[in-house]
This record gives sequence, structure tokens and C-alpha cells, in this order.
Amino acid sequence: ISIKIVSIIQLWVTVTHKTISEELSKTVLLPCLFTLRQGASSSTEPPRIKWTKVWGQRGSDGLQKEQSVLVAKDNVVKKAFQGRVALPGYNENRYNASLALTGLRSSDSGLYRCEVVVGINDEQDTVPLEVTGVVFHYRAPHDRYALTFDDAKRVCVENSAVIADPGQLQATFADGYDNCDAGWLSDQSVRYPIQSPRPGCYGDREDSPGVRNYGNRSPDELFDVYCFAKQLRGDVFHTSVPEKLNLATASTHCHSLGAQLATVGQLYLAWQAGLDQCDPGWLADGSVRYPINVPRKNCGGDEPGVRTVYSNPNRTGFPDTTALFDAFCFGGKIKYFI
Ligand SMILES: *[C@@H]1O[C@H](CO)[C@@H](O)[C@H](O)[C@H]1NC(C)=O
Ligand SMILES: *[C@@H]1O[C@H](CO)[C@@H](O)[C@H](O)[C@H]1NC(C)=O
Repeated sequence: ISIKIVSIIQLWVTVTHKTISEELSKTVLLPCLFTLRQGASSSTEPPRIKWTKVWGQRGSDGLQKEQSVLVAKDNVVKKAFQGRVALPGYNENRYNASLALTGLRSSDSGLYRCEVVVGINDEQDTVPLEVTGVVFHYRAPHDRYALTFDDAKRVCVENSAVIADPGQLQATFADGYDNCDAGWLSDQSVRYPIQSPRPGCYGDREDSPGVRNYGNRSPDELFDVYCFAKQLRGDVFHTSVPEKLNLATASTHCHSLGAQLATVGQLYLAWQAGLDQCDPGWLADGSVRYPINVPRKNCGGDEPGVRTVYSNPNRTGFPDTTALFDAFCFGGKIKYFI
């Protein structure tokens, strides 16, 4: 009997191997559908479905890190992943294992393994997921809290971004973002993300971690802003000359390389893609910043991030345009998608 069952139950897993891209804070559907081979009886026990996230380098044991995402068998669905997962097609069809993941975070990027078990048959496949976009804090050139709501929207656009929405800030907070500067968001609210509450940063939540919310504000009030940069369409690169560059010569230098000074949004996207350069450089808005992925001494602190060079100890004021630094240039590329 057992031999007969093995021969009639064959699972066919249909998944796409192309990387699925979705923006920060949105919902993605990772497809996983399997069918029984023609002629196979579906009267056997319901299939068991298991989703696992797999990431990192293979260790000495040849294994990667794994995290359980969801397990389902018939009407019992066990979810990990902060409850952000569901099987929307499963109620209708027990063989539809497609996984919905909501409130996407950058750290959700990775490989997802879908496993289906019927009887003693076991099939699996993987779906790569890439979460795109980055949230960054932006302060006016001359002072802290100097942007009206209209200014806030404009400076984001000038830096290859848009004003962030509350969901995007929340998703970034969930990945560890901490910044004690109240900034405009697209719904005209003013918020900031705090991991470790401290004097001056309690906001409306006292000493529990969370995104602080000042609520909806009059558009004339002055704050910083949180921007969201979606996608890098080209390359950001660091450049230097022996005598260093002021803002004007930095711009000319980028042009001589067939490029232009990068915007803040472009630098953040390049940082997210792995750029690491412990040398402050001019950007198009007249600010001076540098991207750090591997935190180290003398490169601005213990956390990865884009560092900003301010002219005042209270973290305000872009450097004088005659000050000498390197530069970050941006060269657009025409990409052909086949
Ligand atoms: C599987 O479920 C997903 C999510 O509800 C749905 O979009 C898709 O059409 C379903 N596929 C099939 C073949 O039922
Ligand atoms: C920071 O310092 C500069 C120069 O001393 C001053 O003009 C500015 O008002 C200060 N900003 C804040 C928020 O204290």
C-alpha cells in the first residue's frame, strides 16, 4: 500500500525564482502554489505548509540561518514574524500556499522557503524578496526646525525623494531607527522614532520605545522632515583630489567625470546598497556627509548610517561652501531590462 501511495502522490511546486521587489511598508505576496499530479487523489490528509526565512552566509556546518515564518495544517495556522504574515488563498484552496507579508521592513529582504508536505512527500522551493527604499531625516541648511510643511515636501523632492508617510517611518523604526528630531510626514503630522527613551526625547510616550507623535500640525509650524527615497537609477561614487574640493570645485569635478554631485536621497540609497566610505564629501544640497556600513572608530559611532557634518556642535548648519572635503558624485545609467 505504501508503495502505491508514493507512486500516485507527486507534488508540483510552482514558484517564480525571479526576485520579487516591493517598497518599504507595503504588502507583498510571495507565490507558492502546488498541485497534485493528474490522477492523484486529494482524499488524503490535508497538506502541511511551512514557510521559513533563510539568510546569511553558510557556516562551517554548511547551514544558513533560518527563521520560522508560518506553519499551517488544515485550519491551524501558526504565525511568527510579529503576526505580519497570512495565507490569503489558503481558505479557498488548501494547495495555495502563497504568503502575504505586510508592513515590509528592509530587514525582511532575503530568501523565503516554501515547503509542502503531503503524507511522506515533501517538496520545497525558494522565493527571493527585496524590500526597496530608505527613510532619512533631513534638516534645513541653516538651522534645526526651520521647515514649514511646504518646505518639507520641497526639500525631499530636491533630494531625489518624497516626504515619508507614517507607515514608512514605522517600518524603519521596527528595524531599529532612532532619531530625536521631530519631522514632518506626508499626513501633515510630526513624529520621530525613539528606541531608547531619554531626557528631551520622551515625547508623548514617556519611557516606552516607539514613534513619538505630535499629531497634526499647522503647516506654518517649523520642524525637520523625514523623506523617503525609492530607487537609485545610477551609481553614486566617492571622488577626491589631493588638494581637496570646495562646494563649487566639487561640482565641477563631478561634471568633469560625466556625473553630478549626488543628492542626499541618492547617497542614502547607495549606503543601503552597501557603500562605505569614511571620508566626508560634498553633496548637491551643499551638505557634507559620508556613508558607513561597517561601524569603526573615527567613523562616527557604533551604528551603521549616513553621517552628516554640521558646522555647529548643536548639529546645525551645513559647512561653509569654501571648506575643503571630498565629493560624492552621481552618474545616471540607462538600464535595459530584458
Ligand atoms: C492563491 O492565492 C493568492 C492570494 O489570495 C491569489 O492571488 C492567487 O490567485 C491564488 N492562486 C490560485 C491559483 O488559486
Ligand atoms: C545652534 O548653533 C547656532 C550657532 O551657534 C545657532 O545659530 C543656532 O540657533 C543653534 N540652534 C539651536 C537649535 O540651538
